[in-house]
Amino acid sequence: MRLRSLHLQDFRNLSEVALEPSPRLTVLLGDNGQGKTNLLEAVYLLATLRPLRASRLGELVRFGAARALASAEALVAGGQRTLAVEVFPGGRTATLDGKPVERLDSYLDGLAAVCFSPDDLLLVKGGPDARRRFLDRAAFNRWPAVLGEAREYVRALRARNAALRAGAGAVEESFRGPLVQSGARLLRRRRDVMLELEPRLGAAFAEISGPGAPRAEIAYRASGGIDLDGDEAALAGRLAEALEARLPRDLERGYTTCGPHMDDVLLAVGGRAARVYGSQGQQRAYVLSLRIAEVENLRAVLPRPPLLLLDDVSSELDPAKNAYLLAYVASLPAQAFLTSTDRRLIEPAAGAETRFYRVAAGSVSPLLS
Ligand SMILES: Nc1ncnc2c1ncn2[C@@H]1O[C@H](COP(=O)(O)OP(=O)(O)O)[C@@H](O)[C@H]1O
Ligand SMILES: [Mg+2]
Repeated sequence: MRLRSLHLQDFRNLSEVALEPSPRLTVLLGDNGQGKTNLLEAVYLLATLRPLRASRLGELVRFGAARALASAEALVAGGQRTLAVEVFPGGRTATLDGKPVERLDSYLDGLAAVCFSPDDLLLVKGGPDARRRFLDRAAFNRWPAVLGEAREYVRALRARNAALRAGAGAVEESFRGPLVQSGARLLRRRRDVMLELEPRLGAAFAEISGPGAPRAEIAYRASGGIDLDGDEAALAGRLAEALEARLPRDLERGYTTCGPHMDDVLLAVGGRAARVYGSQGQQRAYVLSLRIAEVENLRAVLPRPPLLLLDDVSSELDPAKNAYLLAYVASLPAQAFLTSTDRRLIEPAAGAETRFYRVAAGSVSPLLS
């Protein structure tokens, strides 16, 4: 996908922004706290309907404003479309060419965005939720239906947990069916996207690390020891068994202790957890490789490459990795948005089509390149 114009209103600290991004690289320069990441967040929301970092969509609405609006003229698989997302306390609406979108996957068809951020290091260093989110987003960029499927799972999980808290062992059974179905589907999606990513992860890691480097691998660690082989029905069967076996414990605790919401992903270098045994350099190379693997995978399956968002990455990476990433981005026929506090750090990626903007106190203005 490619954005031809972008318009924001009351989106975090960006009260009114209009810009025409480059078909290739758009650079947002400015000091800290000015609104650079906020702008990336708006682009990400338009492309995925998910918040990039906000835990609640309501955070996106400018303090004191009633709603936030992001819209864009975009080239997508079906030609030029007007995308718009409005966020208000308690919800959001998406429109396509001015018409409310009934099925989210029709809005999302052909749209995808991948963001590189200094927070990516949490994939290796942080808790399992960051890794689950990574896989779910990779799956959802790949198959937009995953957005709805993951929601079904969350709904089913809440229903079962409520029944567990009410101490209703018998009632719980009636909630198990939908939980098992949606849980098995989510497991299959995660497994499938992981299998697609793994060889690309290994290749990127080898290229970044140079000759003689250990291998980067990724492995799913399902709660309840559930084996991930087989079709969705087989997964459902195993998930149902695991839930049944845990029922007494779940009743005691008042929540569901196994299933995709409790799973983890092992990120390994040379056969060992990168979190525990990886050097700082290996950990950074690993997360960079994971993101590149996702981009490469999307490039292979989508008619157009995904949007690339690079948030202040040059401040975090050593010069060699920074140069690698910028060369990679410059080599792709993709539209990219890049933020930095220091123009010199991103200069290597700049080309004839690069457009520079300055972001200061929520205002965005073009800079001469
Ligand atoms: N909902 C909001 N309304 C108004 N300002 C906000 C909102 N959310 C965040 N901000 C402001 O946005 C600024 C941070 O913007 P950010 O894009 O993260 O900066 P940077 O340029 O460093 O990437 C902070 O000053 C913060 O107070
Ligand atoms: Mg920022």
